[in-house]
Amino acid sequence: MNRIEEIYSYIDIKDKVVDVGCDQAKLSIMLSKRNQPSIAVDISEKVINNARSKVDKSLVDLRVSNGLDKIKEGEADTLVLSGMGTHTIIDILLNTNLRFKKIITISNNYHDILRERLNELNYKIESEQIINENNKFYNLILFKEGNDKLTEEDILLGKNHKDLNTYQEYLLYLLKKYQNIKKTSKDKNNKIDKMINLINNKLKTINK
Ligand SMILES: C[S@@+](CC[C@H](N)C(=O)[O-])C[C@H]1O[C@@H](n2cnc3c(N)ncnc32)[C@H](O)[C@@H]1O
Repeated sequence: MNRIEEIYSYIDIKDKVVDVGCDQAKLSIMLSKRNQPSIAVDISEKVINNARSKVDKSLVDLRVSNGLDKIKEGEADTLVLSGMGTHTIIDILLNTNLRFKKIITISNNYHDILRERLNELNYKIESEQIINENNKFYNLILFKEGNDKLTEEDILLGKNHKDLNTYQEYLLYLLKKYQNIKKTSKDKNNKIDKMINLINNKLKTINK
């Protein structure tokens, strides 16, 4: 499955979905095929205008919106934030009073900061999944209301992973990356050593 199909698999038929940063509204188009209405927003007017010709207007509510600015209380209970950076995702959540029963993210970067900040905003990690699409890894995180005591390992490597085979591939890729940094760097870098240890330990627990 590709990224959007994976996100789709986390959505129940009764969820009231808003997809922020929808681009071509692919997720909403998939939802509309099973008659599920949704809201799809993007900050770019050009993007929304392009999407208009592709969607079933009776089921997909397209809006130009910076984050959740154009979403009213009660319109959505499930938030999708995919293909954006962690800092954009956090800004979108800090700039709204709306709460969601479920948030599905695929952030482009800083997953450690994302896990920690969302936990502080009272969204805890329900599960995670690494997706390998065309040899690029994507990190899907499903958050639900609540908060958790996260360990350093949880923050840096995530928790409750589904699809352990792909997670293992991802960890091996990360291990190689950090080992190369260690090899080429003249500095003694404790953070790199810590990551290498954490990844090796995680790999051992997966292989048990
Ligand atoms: C790389 S695309 C991701 C498309 C799709 N969600 C996916 O995962 O493939 C990122 C989209 O986010 C939109 N975007 C960026 N910042 C935004 C914001 N603050 N509010 C709404 N949309 C935003 C961009 O205009 C762009 O269309």
